[in-house]
Amino acid sequence: MNTKYIDLIDQTYYFPQKEFKLGENGLEFHGIDLMEMVEKYGAPLKFTYLPKISENIKLAKKWFANAINKNDYKGNYNYCYCTKSSHFKHVLNEALKNDIHIETSSAFDIDIVQNLKAQGKITDETYVICNGFKRDQYIEKIAKLINEGHENCIPIIDNYEEIELLSDSIEEDFKVGIRIASEEEPKFEFYTSRLGIGYKNIIPFYEEQIKNNERVELKMLHFFINTGIRDTAYYWNELVKCLKVYVRLKKICPTLDSLNIGGGFPIKNSLAFEYDYQYMIDEIINQINITCAEWEVPVPHIFTEFGSFTVGESGGAIYEVLYQKQQNDREKWNMINSSFITTLPDTWAISKRFIMLAVNRWHDEYERVLLGGMTCDSDDYYNSEQHMAAIYLPKFRKEKPLYIGFFNTGAYQESIGGFGGLQHCLIPSPKHILIDRDKNNKLTYQLFSEQQTSEQLLNILGYEH
Ligand SMILES: Cc1ncc(COP(=O)(O)O)c(C=O)c1O
Repeated sequence: MNTKYIDLIDQTYYFPQKEFKLGENGLEFHGIDLMEMVEKYGAPLKFTYLPKISENIKLAKKWFANAINKNDYKGNYNYCYCTKSSHFKHVLNEALKNDIHIETSSAFDIDIVQNLKAQGKITDETYVICNGFKRDQYIEKIAKLINEGHENCIPIIDNYEEIELLSDSIEEDFKVGIRIASEEEPKFEFYTSRLGIGYKNIIPFYEEQIKNNERVELKMLHFFINTGIRDTAYYWNELVKCLKVYVRLKKICPTLDSLNIGGGFPIKNSLAFEYDYQYMIDEIINQINITCAEWEVPVPHIFTEFGSFTVGESGGAIYEVLYQKQQNDREKWNMINSSFITTLPDTWAISKRFIMLAVNRWHDEYERVLLGGMTCDSDDYYNSEQHMAAIYLPKFRKEKPLYIGFFNTGAYQESIGGFGGLQHCLIPSPKHILIDRDKNNKLTYQLFSEQQTSEQLLNILGYEH
């Protein structure tokens, strides 16, 4: 009988895969020898493999270029990076190597834009799409950016007061977009997203506040489906509803020339993940072409704001299994040396699934386990709910340390987990390693941050003041 972990993986999935291979030391991710990294830096650790960011941006741009060609689409495509998925400078520096634009969500985001401008990473030509609910500070910072000459800054109007607030602070004429509040999937507790302006109210809003306003030019319609870009009746239905608003508005608003379809491209969350990105983009472009032809209006330029897709697949986390607690005949708890709640908060908050694999001991026998985090919170676990199938790992043996890796964790986990801040049960944030390739394609490693110390946490808590 094949009872080794390697056999299990081999029989369950196609393995090896493009980014996952088994090397002499254990699992390799994009050619990174993970055990070598663990031996050098210790675990727990988090890492970012920067080249994957550029790879994904290039892929999306290629898929859109293909679809535009194939459908003889007359508009162009603009890739924006949704900064809230990871604000780190190293992430933006890598993303901005690829001639892209920026989407912001709050006041401090504009300070990042100013910082990037000062460094020459972006220019006045870069689109800065400002989403989010806007109040004083955000409005002032957007206005300052525009007053300084950043004409391609486009605030997306999220509520009825924003045009007036912006007009009070911006000196010259300015462009805006309007966000359509999408209808949520039927299983949601509420019908309409709180973000944006309802479908039926868009045209009345335009007529009341923009049409006769000489200072404001409506350029973009923005639409974002919370559940992502998926091949479901719900998605296509919402897209068509949005396109109907676009063409109706275009008939009465000649300056409108762009459609922003938001973020929501999925990322690989299992070794069995399948998603036909090219098909989805072809079909979106095709739908836009059809609707615009029917209504005899020119097609819009397309904008996207991919967050997870840009940065998600660049990140990973490695933990050591410290101990095994057998709580009854069936339940073996492998305790990791960190916390899921604080380091991968989406596993706890929204039962998000990530790729999880053993890093070493692939030639050992496997067993079924549950994974527990170190906080005393009973919800600090990762199990088959997130993982869909039961979790199997090489058998725990005290004298043979076992390391496990979570992959494609690069989006949202640091900001939601509060990187460098207070942590549940004061379990410190792990160290973070940046991995890149030099001009000879050789891997390079840089320690971005050390594991949080007791002093840092006590300082936040006021004990060191
Ligand atoms: C307006 C807007 N654009 C883009 C995104 C990015 O979504 P994703 O990370 O799924 O690509 C979000 C995420 O919440 C969003 O609210």
